Amino acid sequence: MTTIARADAAVKSARVMDAFGRHIHYLRVSLTDKCNLRCVYCMPEQMVFRPNEELLTDDELAIVLRAASLLGFDKYRLTGGEPTVRPNLPAIVKQIADLPGTREIAMTTNGIRLAQLAGPLKEAGLRRVNVSLDSLDETKFHRMTRWGHVRDVLAGIEAVEAAGMTPIKINCVVVRGFNEDDIVTLARLTCERDWQVRFLEVMPFADVAEFQQASIVTTREMIERIEAGLGKLVELNDGRLDGEARMYRLPGARGEIGFISPVSAPFCANCNRVRLTADGTLRLCLLKDGELDLRTPLRRGAGAEELADLMRQAIWRKPWGHELAHGVIPLNRIMSEIGG
Ligand code: 5AD
Ligand code: SF4
Repeated sequence: MTTIARADAAVKSARVMDAFGRHIHYLRVSLTDKCNLRCVYCMPEQMVFRPNEELLTDDELAIVLRAASLLGFDKYRLTGGEPTVRPNLPAIVKQIADLPGTREIAMTTNGIRLAQLAGPLKEAGLRRVNVSLDSLDETKFHRMTRWGHVRDVLAGIEAVEAAGMTPIKINCVVVRGFNEDDIVTLARLTCERDWQVRFLEVMPFADVAEFQQASIVTTREMIERIEAGLGKLVELNDGRLDGEARMYRLPGARGEIGFISPVSAPFCANCNRVRLTADGTLRLCLLKDGELDLRTPLRRGAGAEELADLMRQAIWRKPWGHELAHGVIPLNRIMSEIGG
């Protein structure tokens, strides 16, 4: 058998499970911890990032991705920090598209650089994009992101639509005292646009945990606010989750409205994912501190097969889920270092 045929055979037989019987086949890849914004719920304004030598190089990343494909991973999402600030992004997308077994490649981004990048990314094989947009009001958006402008995000969304990477998902993190009044306007977008607008409960992490816990708006309150402004929401899919969101539609609307409730309604039972951080650790749960260091073996010369073995063993020990409801908060990293 040729090397490629052997690898393909391995992919077909690979199926990585954790000890709870969950099939893990979705890798979220954080390409950088850096960002061109400073959202209040994500990082302090004077954020200190990791030195570049701590981040995986393109070559190291390629080996980890190859290992993931050997393990039967078929779905990838590029995250950050902000993934579009990583150099060579289209080349990285192309590499993932060319892996045996890849079925889906998506990206979560703040949208600022999409006006330039949407075309090349689509060409490289990117299928779908989730864009963060917390308010349509320029002043409030600026207060939340500290550095951002709504017009740049809207131009980015337009470029994504023009490139045909649809359906577009818009993510809005709802923060008390910042944008809880804006969710009605954002929800109304779905009347005219074929978008999925999804509202997220803010999650607590490390240094910013206290602020985050004080600012949570629960899904229940979000639904009340939207229904008071726009009428009764109709539940879709019999209440089953679409990814991590519960989906609804406003009467007569083109698009859909989703709610992601990590705090008030954890979705750990259906978890199918692990995360690769930009500094080369495999993070087993977004909200629990268990990790596998891949950078050390990589820099010792480990290849894809060796990494795949380590990853398989670590995934078996993936924790059941988070304990936010009991006050257990991840302490060793903040969101931008994990990728959401
Ligand atoms: N809680 C919930 N969502 C968050 N995001 C960033 N920080 C938090 C947090 N503390 C969101 C961003 C983006 C995605 C990467 O995660 O808004 O949509
Ligand atoms: Fe950047 Fe996203 Fe964090 Fe905002 S939430 S600072 S856009 S990484």
